[in-house]
Amino acid sequence: MTSAPESSALPSVGFVGWRGMVGSVLMQRLQDEGDFARINPVFFSTSAVGGAAPSFAEGSGTLQDAYDVEILAKLPIIVTAQGGDYTAEVYPKLRDAGWSGLWLDAASTLRMEQDSVIVLDPVNRSAIDKGLADGVRDFIGGNCTVSCMLMGLGGLFRNGLVEWGTSMTYQAASGGGARHMRELLNQFGALHGTVAMNLDDPASAILDIDRAILAKQRHASLDASQFGVPLAGSVIPWIDSDLGNGQSKEEWKAGAETNKILGTDTRIPFDGLCVRVGAMRSHSQALTLKLTQDLPVGEIESILAADNEWVRVIPNTKVDTLAGLTPVAATGSLEIPVGRIRKLEMGREYISAFTVGDQLLWGAAEPLRRMLMIATGNL
Ligand code: HSE
Repeated sequence: MTSAPESSALPSVGFVGWRGMVGSVLMQRLQDEGDFARINPVFFSTSAVGGAAPSFAEGSGTLQDAYDVEILAKLPIIVTAQGGDYTAEVYPKLRDAGWSGLWLDAASTLRMEQDSVIVLDPVNRSAIDKGLADGVRDFIGGNCTVSCMLMGLGGLFRNGLVEWGTSMTYQAASGGGARHMRELLNQFGALHGTVAMNLDDPASAILDIDRAILAKQRHASLDASQFGVPLAGSVIPWIDSDLGNGQSKEEWKAGAETNKILGTDTRIPFDGLCVRVGAMRSHSQALTLKLTQDLPVGEIESILAADNEWVRVIPNTKVDTLAGLTPVAATGSLEIPVGRIRKLEMGREYISAFTVGDQLLWGAAEPLRRMLMIATGNL
């Protein structure tokens, strides 16, 4: 507890955006790991300044104003999951005011800045340590899909075994935000409600049910205000903004961030399509990799399994895949299952893989939590 007398010796850490979806998961992980005993948390708010700080961090006083640069600038470390607009508004003011503390951020705003490090320590701990030693002050969480992919397939990338890769994603509603998750569930409910009576009748015609569902999906009464079009019973093959060159921003991030995290001298071509599906909070992706060598599948699996303590290689059988390689199986766990590994018809160096990761854990909160522990000398 931060009220302990020795707490004053602990590093003070400002938290902004701790109540949102990513922030809440981060708070939970910090509690689960007992990390609040290792820091002196100061909680900020954009809307409830002066209110009580959360009960899980007793003794941290009242909520401070998240836009008060003077108060923020007193802290050696600030962790934000408030979002990109907040970063864009507050970060430059802090730096302009001469603040030289560490900025740990879940938003993408600063990710590709030359002076920032994208944090995913099981993959790029050396870049993080070098950054800290060299005076880097901005440590930014990566795109969720990229982080989950590299946690699962880091072994191949880090051993220089990937010549190029393509990833087709199946991204969960949570990547859009809490409102998107609610919208998806409301859509499921509304669609079910439309045909509930027919479903109860085993003699009803499935094509009648299908017609009624489609009519509801296309009707203005189905709220699709977050995603723009219905996601329940459909997919949306575009995520994030349109870069105008046929590529979505999410697709651009995959190649750009993968190479930045890996610190490649020669870029590994990595590209594909990003697709929103009706999963709740785990992102999946199907990969095709061209390897630099013809390795036996068993060896590929061993390399993947040895890369970090969270990756779980799922044997490429139907039974194992259904049991362990779905968003439902992976959600809520720090484990990153990777499976469907086999040689493709295109040649001995071409393999498929499928990986799943909780978008809010390794995809967002966990790399930031671990970076905070690294920055405070606890990891
Ligand atoms: N852009 C991601 C998504 C969120 O929309 O799924 C995680 O970076």
